[in-house]
Amino acid sequence: MPGTCRLIVKEKRVATDDQEFSYISNDADYRHLEDPERYKLLYEEVGSVTANREIRWRSEWMYHFQPRAGATILELGAHNGPNLLHYGRLGHEVIGVELSTTLIATFETQKQLETEDVQARISMRQGWIEAFLPDKRYDYVLVTEVLEHVIDPVNILAKAAECVKPDGEVYISSPTQHWGNNTHVRGVPPKDLAQWLEQANLEPISLFTEPHGWTFCMARCKSLCA
Ligand SMILES: C[S@@+](CC[C@H](N)C(=O)[O-])C[C@H]1O[C@@H](n2cnc3c(N)ncnc32)[C@H](O)[C@@H]1O
Repeated sequence: MPGTCRLIVKEKRVATDDQEFSYISNDADYRHLEDPERYKLLYEEVGSVTANREIRWRSEWMYHFQPRAGATILELGAHNGPNLLHYGRLGHEVIGVELSTTLIATFETQKQLETEDVQARISMRQGWIEAFLPDKRYDYVLVTEVLEHVIDPVNILAKAAECVKPDGEVYISSPTQHWGNNTHVRGVPPKDLAQWLEQANLEPISLFTEPHGWTFCMARCKSLCA
């Protein structure tokens, strides 16, 4: 239209391989934090990205976690199951809680290829961490690379406190600073994590950062939740 200037605002889309996504964005678009349905759709898309159809165990996140033999492990935010497979193959009993059905589908396909005894030790529950109702308490609860994503990190840590045995441990890893696309909504510096632990009835056994920019923590229940 001559003489006028129309501003057309398009929702930013990020092309990934052969697909376009409307919720994952490199912009500071955090609308999913206010809208649970949008939040779930965002993580359905995460599981549809080609890179996330491969299962990749990340030693750089897990190497401070040294479970005792034959432990029971609960993972909150289990992605497509790399920790379930890794620790299940090592003889641990591992259950994951994961929101995204597309990520779980990748895990279930791989699970069918495992030996029967590994299959018997690993399982995934679909749903919100915040709504998870544990059947029992676990020796270890993993909260690895989750707190930078979620609506309220205290709710996630409170669930970990509810699910860990009184003498068990909660293992946490997260990037110290905020980076990446909009699935990351915050960084996890040690001072913030210390406050969230306190509010969630947990206390750190060790809490530290490493030069590559990661915060790690092993925590346990404060006496009240024991
Ligand atoms: C970066 S991945 C976690 C990686 C995995 N823990 C590991 O160590 O390999 C974060 C996962 O948390 C899941 N997630 C985020 N918020 C969630 C919630 N409120 N309830 C359940 N799952 C959630 C996401 O779908 C995603 O798979």
